[in-house]
Amino acid sequence: MTRPGRQPARRRGVGPRRETLLATVPVAVAALIGAAGPTAADTTGAPGAGDPYFPLSGNGGYHVRHYDLTLRYETSSRHLDGKAVLTARATQDLSRFDLDLTGLQVTGVAVDGAPAAFRRVGQELVVTSRHTLRTGRDFRVAVAYNGTPKPVTDPDGSADGWIPTDDGAFVAGEPQGAMTWFPANNHPKDKASYDFTITVPQGSTAVANGVLLGQRTAHGRTTFRWRESQPMASYLATATIGNFKVERYSTDDGIQVYNAVDPREASAAAPVLKQLPSVLEWESKLFGPYPYRSAGSIVDHAPDVGYALETQTRPLYDAAPDLHTLVHENAHQWFGDSVSLTTWKDIWLNEGFAVYTEWLYDEQHDGDSAQETFDALYARPASDPLWAYPPGDPGSGKNIFGAPVYQRGAMALHELRKAVGDGDFFRIVHAWPTVHRNGHGTTAQFVRLAEQISGKRLDGLFHTWLFANGKPNSA
Ligand code: TRP
Ligand code: ZN
Repeated sequence: MTRPGRQPARRRGVGPRRETLLATVPVAVAALIGAAGPTAADTTGAPGAGDPYFPLSGNGGYHVRHYDLTLRYETSSRHLDGKAVLTARATQDLSRFDLDLTGLQVTGVAVDGAPAAFRRVGQELVVTSRHTLRTGRDFRVAVAYNGTPKPVTDPDGSADGWIPTDDGAFVAGEPQGAMTWFPANNHPKDKASYDFTITVPQGSTAVANGVLLGQRTAHGRTTFRWRESQPMASYLATATIGNFKVERYSTDDGIQVYNAVDPREASAAAPVLKQLPSVLEWESKLFGPYPYRSAGSIVDHAPDVGYALETQTRPLYDAAPDLHTLVHENAHQWFGDSVSLTTWKDIWLNEGFAVYTEWLYDEQHDGDSAQETFDALYARPASDPLWAYPPGDPGSGKNIFGAPVYQRGAMALHELRKAVGDGDFFRIVHAWPTVHRNGHGTTAQFVRLAEQISGKRLDGLFHTWLFANGKPNSA
């Protein structure tokens, strides 16, 4: 049953709060980098992708087309050995460009096979190529690195990235954590395909995204090879390691399912995971064909984490999920994974849709109607945190996983539904992931699409529900 306000897999505020520190560090680092060479702006890639909430996430001057990651993890010592080979395309002439990487030790960088100079400035790995890389040309950058990966603490106090567990690691990168385990152009604006080769102690399983190409055991270690050939944002990559029970099958639609479950969570997880094919089929009817060839679940036992993540093709759960969480994370395969953000400010496009999918699931499976769920939330007083800030403009990275984004974001969709009627509403939520499949979408584009399909002016409605401060008046 729907209980408005529940956020089963999204409990927050786990780690220590480090807001002050985090607020000042990026500014200082940006100043440092700026001081190092604004004069060379012509051939220097920017240290950030221009995201107001995470100014140093991502970089300028190139797009990554493919990541080839070779990792070796020693669970007992928590040591990671990595090699990343990125195939990228320059979008400007580049004598110098940045990757994002935090912690760890870099032992060598090569560009197109030639050793390149590098230095570390905060989360920026600054690479100076021997030759200027020309606009429009592909280049390869190889980075060798190692060390003990540490999660990053987000502005809201939660930890993400490489999070060690008692039997491996829970690897979840939203919004910033990919850079704790591989050098990346760490912003969802830049999607790429991925190959993973992950070596772990024999008996452990390493689970990444996409399809399993093979696994081989020798000398007490097992190497897993995974491939995600569809474009993927860096935060959706995983390389989760643990002692897992593995289940594999294909759905009637030919989707390859790979479930990895920590035995401690197995009995609680089983009845929910059993529903995955029917949930995907139901979501495919609403939103169009499932965007990927593979699917599944990683059910870890990670009691300190406090959230689940929609890792592409294979959501990652910190414990056995309930059915709502399974529905939510798999809805993200359309909303967030296939249709990606261009700015974290638009996060409601991910979370509002995933939550509204839960409401629709209840409505269509003998639970509360979406209207009932809406009404229960709307009954909250104007002082409730639900109305603390508008979902379309959460104000800072600290707020991107809050109730206004999740619940009020879903309420905005429900208001849209009431305004345009069920026929057009379901056409809109089907068209959105179809038109932007494997790409990106912005709030402005969503509003335009809704207006086109419905033939109605909706700027007032979206202003009220996405952008206005305080509790809106309901239509
Ligand atoms: N996007 C996740 C979900 O809604 C939640 C999430 C991922 C999260 N990383 C986080 C929540 C960090 C808080 C902090 O399923
Ligand atoms: Zn979500």
